[in-house]
Amino acid sequence: MTSYTSRWTIADALKVHADDPTTTMPVIAQNFPTMDESVMIWDTGALRNIHGQTVTFKGWHVIWSLAVDKIDLNNDDIYDEWHSRNDRAYIGYWYSRTGNGADWQWGGRLLNTSADLRPHEWSGGLVMREGTGNVVDMFYTSEADSPINQSVPSVSTGQIFADANGVWFGGFKTTTEMFSADGIHNANSQQDEYFDFRDPHPFVNPADGRVYCLYESNVAGMRGEFTIGSEEQGVLPPGFAVDAGAQYGAASIGIAVLDDGAYKSGDFSTARWTQLDPLVTALGVNDQMERPHIVFRDNLTYLFTISHHSTYSGGLSGPDGVYGFVSENGLFGPYKPLNSSGLVLGNPSSAPYETYSHFVDPDGYVQAFIDTLPAPGEDPNNPENFRIGATLSPTVKIELDGDRTFLSEVHGYGQVYAQTAWPVGNAWDHRPATV
Ligand code: FRU
Repeated sequence: MTSYTSRWTIADALKVHADDPTTTMPVIAQNFPTMDESVMIWDTGALRNIHGQTVTFKGWHVIWSLAVDKIDLNNDDIYDEWHSRNDRAYIGYWYSRTGNGADWQWGGRLLNTSADLRPHEWSGGLVMREGTGNVVDMFYTSEADSPINQSVPSVSTGQIFADANGVWFGGFKTTTEMFSADGIHNANSQQDEYFDFRDPHPFVNPADGRVYCLYESNVAGMRGEFTIGSEEQGVLPPGFAVDAGAQYGAASIGIAVLDDGAYKSGDFSTARWTQLDPLVTALGVNDQMERPHIVFRDNLTYLFTISHHSTYSGGLSGPDGVYGFVSENGLFGPYKPLNSSGLVLGNPSSAPYETYSHFVDPDGYVQAFIDTLPAPGEDPNNPENFRIGATLSPTVKIELDGDRTFLSEVHGYGQVYAQTAWPVGNAWDHRPATV
């Protein structure tokens, strides 16, 4: 690994504490509203530009969600349907005049089934193609769990349309694979049968104007054969013994760079990407850093990623939620964990699985979905007592204050704010939406 790769160390993770009110999601009310009774949704993202700003299109707010259609509308099988959702996942979309959770209209499937190279469509991002009127690229994870676990960051291209009545899409008939786990910059399936390689997040680096793509990955090397050295440990308190299981935490935030000129011609094929060493690794700490995304602000580079309580290794622990890192020196770091620990917003211990898949926009608004909310007074870890969400949670806001973050506002369910409008003269144009 080159010198630029930063580490989330065991010592950093020992500073993670659930229920700090500045880094904890509010407890969600039991009577939360459901966006649509016929569909269950989870990971969600707003239509955006390649610079990371959320955009409206002709005055409409648009979001994509991973989705499954409910089989039993009486919800009798909701527990099983929810927990097997990854095996039926497709990407759908919603549109709204206001961006307010109360009036999202479900638009149905985004990609044509002819685009699917594998049975499941998992997370990514829906990005307006700069320099075009209405070309839009859906970056996503094309996934199959047999005959072997395959997950390939991919892209399908279409066009967005809107009139006074709503939003619709054309195209999205084929898929281009971007890159695969190579066993050098990240673990492949031969090295780690549980390897993660998904959730592409393309963006322009303002420092050099090039297009890069973040993705979820694991550290290259054989699972169960890592050494957790002093760099992975950090400065540990006297007498602290690193657990032998620590090495099963091997998450990394991967990055690839696109050839100059390829973005303009819409060529996202494998030959045009170069995979680089990861920006951050969590070797010894945690086995999953999912849905990585980036915010450039105040001359700082913020990297955010979601992670689980269940994927911490070696006896470490922390809540499900969004974690983050900050660099004073641009995209390649060095990064240090936000709030010293890395934890940005975790679920409260009274509702440890209430939200997940948090996504932080450039103004610090954070959207997430409701997973499972325990009934009041019931054991929060007993799944029998949960109300299943499958809908968007209240949006919250965090203040980004250098290397610290603070929960500052709570907004409506599924509220999305746009930073700019499309069509525009250029991506940094802040003219109001035209309909
Ligand atoms: C995060 C995530 C993503 C993946 C998707 C599958 O919630 O695990 O990493 O693409 O969900 O449902």
